[in-house]
Amino acid sequence: MTRPDHTRTSDPTMDTAAHPVRVRWLLLLGVIALSATPGCRQRMADQPYYRALEYAEFFADGRASRPLERGVIHRGQHLETDPLVTGLTPEEWLRAYEYQVPANPETMVVLDDAEKRKRAIGAPRFDQRLPGPKAYVEEFPFPITQDDLHRGQQRYTIFCAVCHGTLGNGQGKIWERGYLIPTSFHTTKVSPKEADVSKINPQGLGKSRGYWMWGIDMPMDQAPVGYYFEVITKGYGGMPSYNAQIPPDDRWRIIAYIRVLQMSQNADPTKLPAEIQKLLASAGGQP
Ligand code: HEC
Repeated sequence: MTRPDHTRTSDPTMDTAAHPVRVRWLLLLGVIALSATPGCRQRMADQPYYRALEYAEFFADGRASRPLERGVIHRGQHLETDPLVTGLTPEEWLRAYEYQVPANPETMVVLDDAEKRKRAIGAPRFDQRLPGPKAYVEEFPFPITQDDLHRGQQRYTIFCAVCHGTLGNGQGKIWERGYLIPTSFHTTKVSPKEADVSKINPQGLGKSRGYWMWGIDMPMDQAPVGYYFEVITKGYGGMPSYNAQIPPDDRWRIIAYIRVLQMSQNADPTKLPAEIQKLLASAGGQP
């Protein structure tokens, strides 16, 4: 009969006795190894480079940060004439950029006058010298799906609701601390507690202040979607520009959601699907 091999058992008392000593030695070795290798860096870290905006002798203009070459495009870039990024009809785009060419779709294709084109691309979209209002697009540049509306709702809540309120009646939180009260997107009061804006909107509740400057009485629920697009892109008065934060496609989705808000406040219940009408009736007319 052979004796059982005790060295192979997992006797806890044996393990705890051996471990601490081994671990301590390993740690010590590790520390020595680390301190002995200070120069072990990859060569990539030592490559020559310029810091942002640093002076550079190599380039004639002395700038290390290089401007993009003319004609460089990034992936997914839209044509600068595309209503998706202008919010203007193609004809108006031509007019706004002072092209001295007849406004018709053919001319869009033959824009080979390099000098005019160069001037146009850098020109400000909002040119005070031009008599307004501009001919903004009335239609969304792409079909709006339910997913787009959900995305629009989310983006609206992130970027606009702080000032314009979740219902779009201009009753966000920001103006309570002294900011200008934004234009309401509704021509009637959505909540009885709404602040009085008759002084800053003498033209009436929910009327566009921008159109008013052009002498036009324009309720926000009738203002063309292209106008909203321009306000988001360029800002208007006390309203900051959201050009940098919100990509063009999302701006359109936000506008689509604003349309939803506008319809929701003036909805005709008889146009709702039958089962929803039933639900509404059972809730005493309250959604
Ligand atoms: C920091 C606050 C603030 C935020 C955020 C903000 N707005 Fe405004 N917005 C304003 C103010 C203030 C005005 C009124 C400007 C004026 O009368 O000078 C305004 C006006 C507008 C107008 C109407 C211009 C007119 O003709 O009366 C539109 C459209 C608009 N905002 C859309 C939006 C959208 C869409 C967003 C979100 C992407 C947004 N705003 C985010 C403050 C804000």
